[in-house]
Amino acid sequence: MLRADDLVFAHPGQQKSYHFSLEARPGEVTAISGASGSGKSTLLDLLAGFIAPVSGTLTLDGEDLLSFPPEARPVSLLLQADNLFEHLSAQDNAALGLPRGTPKATGLQQVAEALAEVGLAGFEAKQVANLSGGQKQRVALARTLLRNRPVLLLDEPFSALDDDTRRTTRELVGDLTRRHKWHTVLVSHHADDIAALASVHYRIVAGRLERV
Ligand SMILES: Nc1ncnc2c1ncn2[C@@H]1O[C@H](COP(=O)(O)OP(=O)(O)OP(=O)(O)O)[C@@H](O)[C@H]1O
Ligand SMILES: [Mg+2]
Repeated sequence: MLRADDLVFAHPGQQKSYHFSLEARPGEVTAISGASGSGKSTLLDLLAGFIAPVSGTLTLDGEDLLSFPPEARPVSLLLQADNLFEHLSAQDNAALGLPRGTPKATGLQQVAEALAEVGLAGFEAKQVANLSGGQKQRVALARTLLRNRPVLLLDEPFSALDDDTRRTTRELVGDLTRRHKWHTVLVSHHADDIAALASVHYRIVAGRLERV
């Protein structure tokens, strides 16, 4: 269980402060909605460790996460238009998720498996610039798979996709979450994404997370 307990934060120079408490269970998608500017991305930044709360606790299975810098947290972050390297192949982009020092042959095998798991078997050598938006999100998910972190944070990951692609991509996120027991926290303002994917839904109202 990922658990935030009264994480308090205010952006420098801003009066309004946030008090975030939530629970996200393994194998489930926990959705976060809220008006533009309500603090959704701020919440993900706190969970990922890009900003630090002034007080509160954040734990995964009881272990403190706040003392870890972003790169050492058991967390992956996937954004709307994920920063893939357009001039590199699908394989090379996905391989960025591998732990440092993975032997080449093992790495290639794992990348091939991850690309197959996201439905991109045979796309290894394709340059990312030549892939569709949905295929790019799948490459980013393959990289996330190889990072193999138990917490997945998604910030409007389907916004740039057309309706059909958005449906298949979100099904994939649901499947991967269940299969790998990820604690997936999904920021979305799309009611159908939330209805299709989320077991639990919080809305940010006046700086606090309210169960919907
Ligand atoms: N680095 C920053 N410094 C100061 N204020 C910030 C900073 N980042 C965000 N804010 C402010 O904090 C508030 C919450 O921003 P945040 O990006 O978390 O909103 P959001 O819910 O993700 O909005 P959107 O749906 O538009 O992405 C906004 O008022 C924003 O202007
Ligand atoms: Mg945002």
